[in-house]
Amino acid sequence: MLSALAPVLQKAHRGRYAVGAFNINNLELAQGIMAAAEKLRAPVILQTSEGAVAYAGMDYLAAIAWVAAERVKTPVVFHLDHGKDPVLVERAVKSGFYTSVMIDGSHLPYKENVRITKKIVAMAHRRGVSVEAELGAIAGIEDFVSVAERDAHFTNPEEARRFVRDTGCDALAVAIGTAHGVYKFKGTPTLDIRRLRKIKALTKMPLVLHGASGVDQKLRAALKDHCDDLHDCNRVKDARGVSDALIRSAVRAGINKINIDSDLRLAFTAAVRSALVKDAKTVDPRKIVGPARDAVAEVAMGKMKLFGCAGKG
Ligand code: G3H
Ligand code: 13P
Ligand code: ZN
Repeated sequence: MLSALAPVLQKAHRGRYAVGAFNINNLELAQGIMAAAEKLRAPVILQTSEGAVAYAGMDYLAAIAWVAAERVKTPVVFHLDHGKDPVLVERAVKSGFYTSVMIDGSHLPYKENVRITKKIVAMAHRRGVSVEAELGAIAGIEDFVSVAERDAHFTNPEEARRFVRDTGCDALAVAIGTAHGVYKFKGTPTLDIRRLRKIKALTKMPLVLHGASGVDQKLRAALKDHCDDLHDCNRVKDARGVSDALIRSAVRAGINKINIDSDLRLAFTAAVRSALVKDAKTVDPRKIVGPARDAVAEVAMGKMKLFGCAGKG
């Protein structure tokens, strides 16, 4: 059942758990995630980055998400992730495809972030679409979502209080030490949980954790399995993600939406490599991406259990 983000996250906020928000850009990712949501009776957020929209198109992605939502009784949110370009966010809201959008003004000066977010909130709410905003800047380099380490900064709790009051957003993404991609930490992985608790106490609303992939040993090992055959062994060297223990602390401290992309990419790519190496003669795409869909389901299931949203749909 298709749902807006606000009611799903309000329930999570009251119940003190988090809902998984998974990035999709093709059919197999969506089907893998939905298999997990269905099996665990979990609410789920399918989200598309600006990069995904450029790759596949809003309409194709919406068709996949809407069919997925129709097939289950549990809530499915279709969300635009990291909308940095207000024109694209406006297009997403007006398209009628998305039940939720993120306006990411985190790279802008505070006043400008408030102004743009407020404008999107007014337009989106008129159409029943929820809005996630971001304050503070999360590091990491991806295709369209890119913040150099020197430009990243943590969310100021007092500023967060004023920001949500002045913008009327439904959820707030906070910067507390995570980063996008697989290279999140140079030293010991740690998050500023005290800061998070303060933000939660002052905002009393659903909070979002980006850059939350675990990049665990199993995923790194799976990806490296066939690197000799494919002449690419350095890709995951030095990769380090957010541990399960840190995720549990973040949920206890008030996180209600957790974004996962990199872990799905790792699992998907490892499965494709493995399929190609095991059956080098195949020319059937289903035999190549089918196992990747199963690998995605397994990762998504693990996340839903970890976030505490299994059985909450
Ligand atoms: O931050 C979210 C996604 O990981 C963005 O990745 O821009 O390469 O689709 P992308
Ligand atoms: P990861 O790169 O840690 O998976 O984060 C994804 C994300 O935050 C998407 O918005
Ligand atoms: Zn993100």
